Amino acid sequence: MFIINELSNIVNNEVISFHMPGHKKGRIYEKLGYKNVLENLYKMDTTEILGTDNLHSPEGIIKSSQKKASRVFKSDYTYYLVNGSSCGIQSAIMSVCAPKSKIIVNRDCHQSVINACILGDIDIEYISCEISEDTNVLKGISISNAIDVIDKNLDAKAVLLTYPTYYGMTYDLECICNYAHDKKMVVIIDEAHGAHLGLSDRLPKTALEQGADIVVQSTHKTLPSFTQSSMIHIKGNRIDIDRLLNVLRITESSSPSYILLSSLELAVDIYENKGQELMKELLNKIRVFKNNINENIEIYDTNDKTKIFISSKNIGLTGYELENILRNKYNIQVELSNYYGVLLICTIGNSTKDFNSLETALNNVVKEDFRFTKLENKEYPAIIPKKILTPREAFYKTKKSVKIYDSIGKVCGECIVPYPPGISIISPGEIISKEIIDYLIFCNSKGMVVSGLKDVDLNFIEVIDLENI
Ligand SMILES: Cc1ncc(COP(=O)(O)O)c(C=O)c1O
Repeated sequence: MFIINELSNIVNNEVISFHMPGHKKGRIYEKLGYKNVLENLYKMDTTEILGTDNLHSPEGIIKSSQKKASRVFKSDYTYYLVNGSSCGIQSAIMSVCAPKSKIIVNRDCHQSVINACILGDIDIEYISCEISEDTNVLKGISISNAIDVIDKNLDAKAVLLTYPTYYGMTYDLECICNYAHDKKMVVIIDEAHGAHLGLSDRLPKTALEQGADIVVQSTHKTLPSFTQSSMIHIKGNRIDIDRLLNVLRITESSSPSYILLSSLELAVDIYENKGQELMKELLNKIRVFKNNINENIEIYDTNDKTKIFISSKNIGLTGYELENILRNKYNIQVELSNYYGVLLICTIGNSTKDFNSLETALNNVVKEDFRFTKLENKEYPAIIPKKILTPREAFYKTKKSVKIYDSIGKVCGECIVPYPPGISIISPGEIISKEIIDYLIFCNSKGMVVSGLKDVDLNFIEVIDLENI
């Protein structure tokens, strides 16, 4: 067996997890006494039978469970999702924006946003994203840029923003919500990385607290539920709930997993009963770890303290190299690496022992793997490319493969996505620039994985065949 053998190795080797899912190999369930429930979970794998309710028209146990989640997360309505935040984002967009309408989005949005626009025939106007030059950390958007794009696109139906960013950066969302509402726009927040924010005053405010209309959270990323289980929260009266539920019936499986649904219910229970106390402990563990770390290890100051970005620049390593060293020599797996460093996701499932192991590993890396050669700088190509076609128009056009450097100046036919973080660097319908190709080739040669391309070796790119347009 292939998948099961590899996963068994990871479990048997006790690989230390600083990545999602938030339950950290089920450790949090064992710690909190949910082990018996989980041991029986495979027997609970069922379908809609008498007594198990129906996710798509809940009237019984699912309805009650979602109602509790709504109270705990302080929404007006909450719905469980079994196809990740991706289906929540797609449903939110398609329920608010009719075909041929327009949405305003941060440029560093998740690929599911662009996919929603392909599915729903919606046009996108981007707000540029702020990026830290030294680390390529995505910092979010600037308020003035957001207001400028809103003012220039008053016909847009909605604003969709990623908050916090994958790297745990936030901004004054309340100000943007107020401004967008003033202009009659709905605010949809991709809070995939912020399901835990309500657990402490030491964390940034939640999107719901700041006035968002729809908030989609990947419960599985930062809270203890199973991979692919997410929630969508609604607040206020700007959303047509019936339409949203109708789109969810389209984007979600007709056989929703009760294992995922049960894990969402567990996460809500833990959040309500133990969450604040466990978050306090976690934030203290992170503070101690940061204080003890070798001074050559530079830690980026994130707004969400549960995200740790470690820059490997000072020690002469790329983030891709540091990720490999941590895994192969120290049995520690990070969430992602970029050229300049690695990102860790810390959750209430992480133990003091995890942080001690990480501290020892990093202090050893400085001693044993330090390189005197400085890393060459490589800027992320943040300029928004010129758009020729909407995402859907581009999707259905005839494509042809061209050598990667011959694609410069041509209209892109694919979503080219460095993964993680799953953010498209260029999307179908946009003009390919030399900066983008140089960045892709350079980072790929250093270890960055690029998905979305037909040619995974990055020798060829699909462009739109303008002769057959
Ligand atoms: C910012 C952001 N939004 C949305 C998603 C999609 O979430 P899911 O994996 O739950 O479908 C991701 C996934 O990594 C993400 O990083």
